[in-house]
Amino acid sequence: MFAVVIDKIATIMEEQTNMEEPTNNIMPRIGDAAPDFEAVTTTGTIRFSDFAKDKWIVLFSHPADFTPVCTTEMSGFAERKDEFTALNTELMGLSIDSIHAHLAWVNNVHENTGVYFDFPIIADIDMKVSKLYGMLQPNESATAAVRAVFFIDPTKTIRLIMYYPLNVGRNMDEILRALTALQVADKHKVALPLNWTTGDKVIIPPPKTLDEMADIIADTTCEKVDFYLATKAI
Ligand code: BEZ
Repeated sequence: MFAVVIDKIATIMEEQTNMEEPTNNIMPRIGDAAPDFEAVTTTGTIRFSDFAKDKWIVLFSHPADFTPVCTTEMSGFAERKDEFTALNTELMGLSIDSIHAHLAWVNNVHENTGVYFDFPIIADIDMKVSKLYGMLQPNESATAAVRAVFFIDPTKTIRLIMYYPLNVGRNMDEILRALTALQVADKHKVALPLNWTTGDKVIIPPPKTLDEMADIIADTTCEKVDFYLATKAI
């Protein structure tokens, strides 16, 4: 098993040194409709537009099964799945591996650590979904997806995107913080400052008209540095 893992990482790393011209890789942007697809996953075939209706979706890719950083990340998602559920959010993973590799890896991690990846993981062996979502970044790797995270709201609009390279693991606290922040901003129609976390004051969106500016200046319930930087508790 150890030799297989080393071999796999070596192949991916070697590709990183064979820099290629970028292909016509679509890069979805914040505000775009999440591209629809049908894919084979560890929980069966899923049509994305039918999955988790009325919920948020965190769609994330990892470079390869049976690799160390990916195992820590996937375990992180699984161990904190309850927190995503509490935020009305479903998880969906992806890598350019076969369904057989996914099943073997899920089983191996379960047997070795007790952590079970029970959310769907897309077997994107033909790279269809990775290409749709700009997860293939050829100058990083031609055959492995980068570590992407797409935050997709219940209207199936992409609201936030993270991209990490192959050799740096993501931060689960930040993923959950960003998801919470998106939901709080929507619910209260506010903006959120640097390092905002639950319980912190929020920012009143800066005024766009003289009337809105006058309203903020007259508002005695908020804290103000000036009219363009006013905060309040929610
Ligand atoms: C990892 O998950 O450990 C990994 C995957 C691909 C390249 C390098 C590291």
